[in-house]
Amino acid sequence: MVASVWSQTVARADDGALRVGGIDVRELASEYGTPLYVVDEVDFRARAASFRDNFAAAFGRHGTTCHVYYASKALLTSQVTRWMLDEHVNIDVASLGELEIALRGGMPADRITLHGNNKADDELRRALEVGVGHIVVDSFTEINVLSALAQELGTTAPVLVRVTTGVHAGGHEYIATSHEDQKFGLSLATGAARDALVAAHAAPGLDLRGIHTHIGSQILSIEAFRESAERMLRLRADFAAESEFEVPVVDLGGGYAIAYTPDAEALDPARAAIEIADAVASALEAAGGSWPVFGIEPGRAIAGPAGMTLYTVGVVKHVSLDEGGERQYVAVDGGMSDNMRTITYQADYTATLAARVSDAKSALSRVVGKHCESGDVVVRDVDLPSDVARGDLLAVPATGAYGRVMSSNYNSALRPAVVAVRDGASRLMVRRDTIADLLNLDVPPA
Ligand code: LLP
Repeated sequence: MVASVWSQTVARADDGALRVGGIDVRELASEYGTPLYVVDEVDFRARAASFRDNFAAAFGRHGTTCHVYYASKALLTSQVTRWMLDEHVNIDVASLGELEIALRGGMPADRITLHGNNKADDELRRALEVGVGHIVVDSFTEINVLSALAQELGTTAPVLVRVTTGVHAGGHEYIATSHEDQKFGLSLATGAARDALVAAHAAPGLDLRGIHTHIGSQILSIEAFRESAERMLRLRADFAAESEFEVPVVDLGGGYAIAYTPDAEALDPARAAIEIADAVASALEAAGGSWPVFGIEPGRAIAGPAGMTLYTVGVVKHVSLDEGGERQYVAVDGGMSDNMRTITYQADYTATLAARVSDAKSALSRVVGKHCESGDVVVRDVDLPSDVARGDLLAVPATGAYGRVMSSNYNSALRPAVVAVRDGASRLMVRRDTIADLLNLDVPPA
């Protein structure tokens, strides 16, 4: 197995079947059905712990610390929350729903950060009632609304101001978040960020704790993080000079890239930690001021490689290509309803036969779903054996992040279960939808 795309306990047994967490994938498929999201608990926890330790050590060398907030939008269940709790990793949430699941998992509210560019009053109210650690304010409207709500509830809201640094980084345009022309944050370039700091500092009911930025996702370049940290520390120093208040917290967001295919690169957390901490140290020296406490918010880099999707092959077709040759279309029992990333971001994935190996010659293949559109592709290009057939199990690695959480009921598909595996045991984390679930939501004719 190519180590970088598969989670750490994945191995192929002598009979050719994949095992993960000490369990044969055939067993998982027959117990839970396919499509199925399988999460390797040991791998997931290890990745979270690696961010925690590497960033604590790298920032510790400079006499400060860096807290990890797992970006739960990547994959959130109450059991995942419990893992983070055990691993001394905090959580960021971006909606009331995510907040409630994190709370159900036992995460203390003061270790939760609430995000969102358009938080509703009930989200802000609940966050204040339970006492979340940070609310990241994203607009002047929110500063005013939150100030009023906090006063009404007789409490104080600890806030970070979300800053748009202008650094353009990340994979697809839809997942870059810190250039000017998009909906998030308050612009550094126009002075909105500075004005928001002044407003949040002055607003009754708000306790200005710091600044936050998230430059995008699937970022391979440390340079982008360096540039963003420099701009953030300069903003902090400028605001301190004018207000005599040095914000204690600087959160640099998430975005650490993972490998989706065997030839792709990933950003190594150990290297990233050292290089980002060093970059921050030079930036702080240039900007001036005392060391803040830092935060980072990796999501994909914790959940992504820990998960795989298991599918069952249905129909296989051979289609002639205009440029000559042919393509093997391998249709599986899921598709864009369980993996929106391929159609949305033209994301690349790979796939392998999961329950056997084959000596048949390999064929240029496309793994497609069962939905009513031709864009319903899971893996655009992959070599699969030419004898792949109905009933074969197929595994697609690196689907742990932004898979189940972005799944849909398109074509009234039943969203797959999420199961955790560890030490030869499996445990359901999210159950599969049933037809009864669909019919329960549908209101029948009178
Ligand atoms: N922090 C904030 C404020 C974020 O908005 C995000 C992701 C993260 C952290 C975590 O980013 P990560 O480390 O996972 O790259 N659906 C897209 C990704 C959208 C990410 C949105 N925000 C995808 O499937 O690639």
